[in-house]
Amino acid sequence: MSKITVVGAGNVGATVANVLAHKDVVNDVVLLDIVGDLARGKALDSWQQAPIDYYSTRLHGSDDYKDTADSDVVVITAGIPRKPGMSRDDLISTNAKIVTSVTTSILEHSSDPIIIVVSNPLDVMTFAAHQVSGLSSKRVFGMAGILDTGRYRAFLASELNVSPKDIQAVLMGGHGDTMVPLPRYTTVAGIPVTELIDTDKLDAIVERTKKGGGELVKLMGTSAWYAPGAAAAQMVEAIVRDENRIFPCCALLEGEYGINGIFLGVPVKLGINGIEQIIELKLNEEEMALLKTSESHVRQVIEVFEGMNV
Ligand code: LAC
Repeated sequence: MSKITVVGAGNVGATVANVLAHKDVVNDVVLLDIVGDLARGKALDSWQQAPIDYYSTRLHGSDDYKDTADSDVVVITAGIPRKPGMSRDDLISTNAKIVTSVTTSILEHSSDPIIIVVSNPLDVMTFAAHQVSGLSSKRVFGMAGILDTGRYRAFLASELNVSPKDIQAVLMGGHGDTMVPLPRYTTVAGIPVTELIDTDKLDAIVERTKKGGGELVKLMGTSAWYAPGAAAAQMVEAIVRDENRIFPCCALLEGEYGINGIFLGVPVKLGINGIEQIIELKLNEEEMALLKTSESHVRQVIEVFEGMNV
């Protein structure tokens, strides 16, 4: 018996709800949005897909936090997306207020939910949600690494002309242009990717991955939703099925990787309690330097957030 709330019925939130419904791993999905009719409409549309695609997950749209009562997992997608020319960090002044008020409202009706933050700038919005929630850091974390490795794996699959299913990868750091894809930890059906691809091509894929979100914003005039929504739904599935899957997620670091007090993308084990473990890779000097650059970038945006006194 699981109840999941997805806050924000925009493209990403609606995709999370729809993909999750298809997985048939939870009983109830509440799609909540201040624009209630939009949430009600998208939830109803998804529910009408159930007899066609064969799932039993009930979907409800609402604009009333009372309907989110006793949620096991809450996915926060609320906030504005990027427009062409914007960085994710440009969204902070609007989204920080939205994410903190959403978190507060959620906790008025659910006492100890797991919260997955998807809103941008991701690393700082996760920090903000954790701070206002007062929940354990094992229960508040962000989605970005699955999306970013998804992009990296898709680019590699195209280049190598192999199934994306066979590409395994780890990627660390912030959800921004300083993210750190890790070729040394990338394999194709167990074969180190470096044995299968030229360095130049691999470097180009790493660079394309870092700017992968921006590439889509340029193409569509707004940010992506299929892969982001599916990524968040995969995290919910790992939690409710207590799978102990290993994913890169945005987690509070308390000394791991020599980093303290900020949320940053690292490999974690996800299970019924949320983050069951943070995995510490033995990064080499070059990888560690890239991670530190990402850390300082995220710290700068946290300073902006703290200066806002939200
Ligand atoms: C992206 C947005 C969702 O990377 O951050 O597409």
